[in-house]
Amino acid sequence: MKQRYGVIGVTGFVGRYVARALASRGYDVVGFSRSGVGRVPEVCEWRRSGAWDFSSLDGLINLSGERVDQRWTEKNKRKFEASRIGVTQEIVATLQSMSDHDRPKVWVNASAVGFYGDRADEICTEGSPPGTGYLAQLCLDWEAATKGIEETGVRCVMVRIGMVLGRGGMAWDRLRLAFAWGGGAQLGSGRQWMPWIHVDDLTAGIIWSIEQNSISGVVNGVATEPVTNRDFTRQLARALRRPAPWIAPGWVLRGIFGEFGSFLTSSQRVAPKRWIDAGFVFRYPTLDLALAELLQKP
Ligand SMILES: NC(=O)c1ccc[n+]([C@@H]2O[C@H](COP(=O)([O-])OP(=O)(O)OC[C@H]3O[C@@H](n4cnc5c(N)ncnc54)[C@H](OP(=O)(O)O)[C@@H]3O)[C@@H](O)[C@H]2O)c1
Repeated sequence: MKQRYGVIGVTGFVGRYVARALASRGYDVVGFSRSGVGRVPEVCEWRRSGAWDFSSLDGLINLSGERVDQRWTEKNKRKFEASRIGVTQEIVATLQSMSDHDRPKVWVNASAVGFYGDRADEICTEGSPPGTGYLAQLCLDWEAATKGIEETGVRCVMVRIGMVLGRGGMAWDRLRLAFAWGGGAQLGSGRQWMPWIHVDDLTAGIIWSIEQNSISGVVNGVATEPVTNRDFTRQLARALRRPAPWIAPGWVLRGIFGEFGSFLTSSQRVAPKRWIDAGFVFRYPTLDLALAELLQKP
């Protein structure tokens, strides 16, 4: 019988890629959504997010989360938290309520490199301590919300995801458009490290983590070659053959985006140590390779 994987947040950018990759590997995809039922062709069965039903699933992938690239008002912060910490707590409670026989065997939960805060040139691996600030605390609480899962026997993998580059993703689509029109800009000093990952590598890494019985706990979902914002700006401008002479000062970013603007100039030099040590092979380890693929005609 085909293995069945439940994907929470399947209607989102990463969720759609994961659904496609799971289906192409011969797995059945059960999609969870609050309201997007029917929107992802690879999903063979839809279930409602919130009314959690994890029966007849071999594994679970949770990619839910309210977008953080909007103003961090108190109201929005409650949404960021409920859609990450709250949903994760509900998943744990549901898995705990199931019998050993019915319970999915593996669960991949999203997290983010925001966990590391602002770390200048320090190389952060999975063992590095958390940083400070709202996003670091959010990620810390998000991961801590998986507490209690070990006792159920479910293998839990948390992926600290960096900026995901892929067609249809907000970051790539906006960057590509801005740079193509000559509006590409370095953010602040440009010295901050930007952990990124090609969406195909993230998707492959998630499915690989499901298939490798030996992996559990935190993994960094980033490419092997992080770049500074200055190098990212130069490489993208060069790949598009457009100038990117602008600099967006930190105070302007904070004025436009509020607290999220400060995050744009924070530095995380993150290494995917655990995936590499365990033998995962990246298709797009360098930004040059990723940009070459992303700028091909789809
Ligand atoms: N994309 C990135 O660069 C990036 C970087 C770091 C971490 N991540 C994390 O990776 C995960 C997937 O990212 P993505 O870019 O695919 O996100 P996305 O496109 O914004 O999709 C996330 C999904 O979460 C669900 N969702 C949104 N707001 C929600 C809310 N208030 N309550 C409950 N569910 C909500 C939605 O599903 P329904 O509406 O169908 O329920 C949505 O399709 C997220 O947890 C994100 O924080 C992403």
